[in-house]
Amino acid sequence: MLPKDFQIKIKTLPNISPELLKNNGSEPLLNTLRKAKIEIPTSCENGLCATCKGRLYRGSVSYPEIQPEGLLPEEAEQGDILLCCAHPTSDCEIDHPELLAPGEFPSRFFKIETFEFKQIHPHVLELSLFFNPQTFFNFLPGQYAELILNNQRYPLSMAMPPKHNQNNPIIFHIVQTELDKPHLLIEALKKLKELKELKKNTDTNTNQFLLLEGPKGRSYFKKENFPHHSQKNTDFIFIAGGGGITPMWSMIPEALSNLSAENSDTTHKVHLYWGVRDETLLYQKNIIQTWSEKYSSDYFKFTTSVGSPIHEAVFNDLKPHLFSHPIFFIAGPPAMVKTIYNALTQQFGIPSEQIFGDGIAFV
Ligand code: FES
Repeated sequence: MLPKDFQIKIKTLPNISPELLKNNGSEPLLNTLRKAKIEIPTSCENGLCATCKGRLYRGSVSYPEIQPEGLLPEEAEQGDILLCCAHPTSDCEIDHPELLAPGEFPSRFFKIETFEFKQIHPHVLELSLFFNPQTFFNFLPGQYAELILNNQRYPLSMAMPPKHNQNNPIIFHIVQTELDKPHLLIEALKKLKELKELKKNTDTNTNQFLLLEGPKGRSYFKKENFPHHSQKNTDFIFIAGGGGITPMWSMIPEALSNLSAENSDTTHKVHLYWGVRDETLLYQKNIIQTWSEKYSSDYFKFTTSVGSPIHEAVFNDLKPHLFSHPIFFIAGPPAMVKTIYNALTQQFGIPSEQIFGDGIAFV
């Protein structure tokens, strides 16, 4: 009789197909990750260096081949394991801080050569960052990065699809009416610009510069993430509150391009819901208009809600979508994201792996 397969779950990668994450205990967990094309840093692969040190959240492991000498007894006690030599002895939930899912890019620091900003709407500042021409900042649609200036970190979502990123610049939107932190960022950027001008004109020294760390976040649109849902009729529902629209400018073009690349019998739908406090906060409506003109209302729908919670509109429309195993992307104030997440999972029975949303998304 073949040994029983144990199901391995990865805490921060819930979307990897369970079929790819099975291990019958005869090999280390590292092999399971590699078979699923998940990247993990390792060095000795012999239980000595602890580069592969991860955490066991549920289940049990043993070390039948190699003694985990790189693991202190107190670390083992608090749940740390060495993935290169730990074999599962039950279903397990594990994690490692530097795992990369297939297609993800490692987060790195990038020095910004120059930057520009312009007001594209009374409430929205568009920030363009330029890198050295040899530098490629790769990201997945919907991810974010942290801008570092004067030891402060400012998380910002990329507001453009990655495929427009073959050359500079990378574009971010700073929605000014939402929170204080973006205001601070704008002030800091203006000051830095002035300093740079001064330096150009007078040779004054400034050691202030701008760094970007990223890409970050796992709330991204990647069609391969949904292999266990029907490829032909999954609906994609994007829900934005206020400035939470920013990552949608990156994801929706990708979702729509997937739609047009499908066979003619596709029944995907892309639905964007955008809730704002008042009408003046809706911006780039011309882009949404272009999508509506290009795709019939059978494929793309836009619903806005001004002054009332956007989730009411979403929940009213939800029934027909439920049969399509819809995938949700939610971005906006944390309280809104939480309310919608709780209602979708508890009232509507949507599995959590069909719902994406990063805490960052409110900038
Ligand atoms: S890679 Fe060195 S202990 Fe696992």
